[in-house]
Amino acid sequence: MTDLFIPNACAGKTVFIAGGSSGINLGIGLRFAELGANVSIISRDADRVAGAVGQLEEAGSGRMIGRSTDVRDYAAVEEALKATHDALGPIDVLVSGAAGNFLSPVVGLSANAFRTVVEIDLIGTFNVFRAAWDYIARPGASLLAITAAQGKRPVMFQAHACAAKAGINLLTQTLAMEWGPAGVRVNAIAPGPIADTAGMSKLAASEAATAAIKGRIPLRDYGRKRDIADMAVFLSSDNAPYVTGAIIDCDGGMILGDASADALTVPVRG
Ligand code: COA
Ligand code: NAP
Repeated sequence: MTDLFIPNACAGKTVFIAGGSSGINLGIGLRFAELGANVSIISRDADRVAGAVGQLEEAGSGRMIGRSTDVRDYAAVEEALKATHDALGPIDVLVSGAAGNFLSPVVGLSANAFRTVVEIDLIGTFNVFRAAWDYIARPGASLLAITAAQGKRPVMFQAHACAAKAGINLLTQTLAMEWGPAGVRVNAIAPGPIADTAGMSKLAASEAATAAIKGRIPLRDYGRKRDIADMAVFLSSDNAPYVTGAIIDCDGGMILGDASADALTVPVRG
């Protein structure tokens, strides 16, 4: 068993991250880089990819590469995976985290708006996982989808993200069943609201909205990118060899429901 979170704990591992140029996904890349892994990232914007590769190089001593790729383009995803395999060897950890989102009621969604989010999140995750089969190091490979609470429960103004993330959850679990016999584990992480991310600046733009969300979460705060990154490192390590098909909530207890009542101040019977 590997000692987690010590220098070089991930040395020699190759990590591929779709949507890895910013936010939570880049946070995962930076944590693996710090721990000695080689990291390959893809996202659409070439400048953003180049900037993120620079950050990865500063964070770790492994090899860091990146390529401008849209996860909706299966052939391009396949090329990026092949290029990663050719440059860095078989892929040990694969993270599918590319996503797009915005707040809109269903009547504000065009068919193209709904399709766009489903195509990036759900079809994108299918493309990344399916195309990876030829390039992952099995047995022992760990595949991770980045999902959200929207995949487990309805959230108003999020029909597009709910449909996409729910699909990701069952895709993850079906693949865990199909690829388990080959020694490949497939899990998903469902982050709660994470500070300093594009996701939360879109979904809770004001201080009042942020305070209201925090007030309903049992642990009363947003999470950090590092919280999700550490979960990704754990799930992908040989400390979690028997975990597959799990949708892991990393959300301060948010999925449990509205915890805004302060039970600890309620008088109890003597
Ligand atoms: N409300 C309703 N519809 C919206 C919308 C909004 N806030 N924002 C975009 N759309 C619609 C567009 O009008 C378009 O539909 P139309 O052709 O019928 O007009 C459709 O969504 C696609 O928009 P487009 O800008 O062409 O898509 P894109 O592929 O360039 O960008 C997005 C995808 C819209 C998801 C964009 O926000 C994005 O790139 N997001 C990535 C970053 C992100 O969202 N991070 C948070 C992750 S949780
Ligand atoms: P982010 O910084 O916007 O990350 C999204 C990434 O996906 C970006 O690097 C973006 O780069 C890339 N991307 C978008 N569309 C793409 C496409 N078609 N092809 C390839 N790459 C694409 O957002 P984030 O908030 O950190 O979210 C990251 C993940 O966490 C998402 O899966 C999101 O659903 C999930 N999540 C976030 C929160 C939160 O609190 N933020 C909560 C729950 C779940 P380009 O623009 O260069 O393509």
